[in-house]
This record gives sequence, C-alpha cells and structure tokens, in this order.
Amino acid sequence: MANWHLKGKKALITGGTKGIGKATATEFLQLGAEVLIIARNGEEIKACLQEWQTMGFTAQGIAADVCSAYDQENYIFPILKEWKSLDILVNNVGTNIRKEFIEYEAEEIRQIFETNIFSAISMTKLCFEFLEKSTEASVINVSSVAALVDVASGTPYGMTKAAELQFTRNLAVEWAKYNIRVNAVSPWYTRTPLTETVLNQPARLQKIIDKTPLNRVAEPEEMATAITFLALKASSYITGHNLVVDGGMTIKTL
Ligand SMILES: NC(=O)c1ccc[n+]([C@@H]2O[C@H](COP(=O)([O-])OP(=O)(O)OC[C@H]3O[C@@H](n4cnc5c(N)ncnc54)[C@H](OP(=O)(O)O)[C@@H]3O)[C@@H](O)[C@H]2O)c1
Repeated sequence: MANWHLKGKKALITGGTKGIGKATATEFLQLGAEVLIIARNGEEIKACLQEWQTMGFTAQGIAADVCSAYDQENYIFPILKEWKSLDILVNNVGTNIRKEFIEYEAEEIRQIFETNIFSAISMTKLCFEFLEKSTEASVINVSSVAALVDVASGTPYGMTKAAELQFTRNLAVEWAKYNIRVNAVSPWYTRTPLTETVLNQPARLQKIIDKTPLNRVAEPEEMATAITFLALKASSYITGHNLVVDGGMTIKTL
C-alpha cells in the first residue's frame, strides 16, 4: 500500500467548505496530507476546520475569492510562499445559472466563465512555481459530464466545463517536462448545495435517476475518491485524462 497515502503532501483545494471540495479535503486529511482550503465564506471555513479538528486533523483555510486577482496575490500567494512547494492543486470551485441560452444576461455568462474556467487558469498559473518544486505534482480540474453531452445544465456551464477538459489536456503535455501531472474528473449529479434545488424536485430527480444505470445520484465522497486517486502516487503514469464518474450515464442511450 506504499502508494496509497498522501503523507508529506501539501494540497490546496479551492471551494473546500461544501460538497465535493469538502469531501475531498476530508479524504486528503485522512490519507495524511497537509490541506489548505479556499472559499469566500469565512464562517463556513471556521466550521470546517473545527469539524476536522474534532476528527483529529488540522487543516488551514483562507477566506478568498478565487476570481479576484487581489485575493490571489494578497491572501493565497503568501501562504504558498510560506509552504515553499505545493504537491496537489484541486481546481474545484464552480457555479451555475440554469436557463435558456437566449435568456442569459452577458454578465451572467461572464460570471460563469470567471468562476468555472478563468479562476482555474489563474490559480494554476499562481501555483506553478510551487508545483514545479514538488517531486510529484498533480493538478486536478473538476469538470463535469456537461463538458461531454447535453445535460440541460445551461449552455455556458457546458462550455466552461469543456474548456476545462482541453485546458487539462494541453497543460498535461506542456507540464510533463516538470513532472506535473494534470487530470480532470467529470462528475454527474452529486448531492451538494450546488444541485440541491434540482435534486429536491421529485420529478427532475426521477428523470436523472432513470438516465443513470446505477439508479441513483452520487454522494460527494464518491467524487472525492476519484479526485484522490489522481492525486496519489498510485496514478503516477496517468496524465491528461478525464475520469468520468457518472454511474454509467454517458454510455447509456436507451
Ligand atoms: N454537484 C454536482 O452534481 C456536480 C456535477 C458536475 C460537476 N460538478 C462540479 O464540481 C465542483 C464542485 O461542485 P459542488 O457541487 O461541490 O459545489 P458547491 O456545493 O456549490 O460548493 C462550491 C464550493 O466552492 C466555493 N466557491 C464558490 N465560488 C467561489 C469563489 N469564487 N471563490 C472561492 N470559493 C468559491 C464555495 O464556498 P463559498 O460560497 O463560501 O465561496 C463552496 O465551498 C464544481 O466545479 C462543479 O461544477 C458538480
């Protein structure tokens, strides 16, 4: 089991207070990593750190907006400088506004792009000099099955998630020379605050379940284990990959 732990690894997870990000932070801590989470709500960060403390883990958290160049430079960069190197970056932050394409305001589209793709690009750039210092660095971008097929998520969301996949592939090739692996995980419906309003509508939930061979939606922990695999030494020959975690949804046609 020599490759199935994260002892001695420093990990930064964006959006680590809820849903998939929080489950990933918990999994990383359980496997021995040093974890830094970023989210905008400072109270929720405090609550997460306390929860992990009661489990016997010490994590760090920064209240910052990953879309803000000011926050990246003034709040996130100083901690990375203190850490000196970074082994794992999980670009997990994401948002959505679901509506017909014609109904989007330009500002709403911009907000989805800023949150889902531009923040991942700038965070990855910010972290590069620290990832380069790691002997086994891994970047994991949390995309979505909406990058691959239409899932009625709204067009801008699908566009940003598709961009994350090509960002992953190009960077995997470019950064192989630094021994930095870059992969993506693409979840289908997972029970988190982001999907609460959709999954709380019984008819919509049933439609989603009917489309899913495994006959249920996912729990955040099931995405966390996929993300964790790509962070482990156990996946050391995998780069530029998109790990689809969808209960079989994308291979079902009838
Ligand atoms: N849940 C699903 O079914 C599903 C399916 C496919 C893909 N995904 C993808 O998986 C990722 C995580 O989704 P989730 O469902 O776990 O989301 P979530 O429950 O809404 O949690 C999002 C996390 O990101 C933080 N966050 C949002 N905007 C931020 C910003 N600008 N700066 C810093 N932190 C920010 C939130 O905290 P604050 O609000 O305090 O900032 C929270 O911790 C997203 O990329 C999403 O697109 C999810």
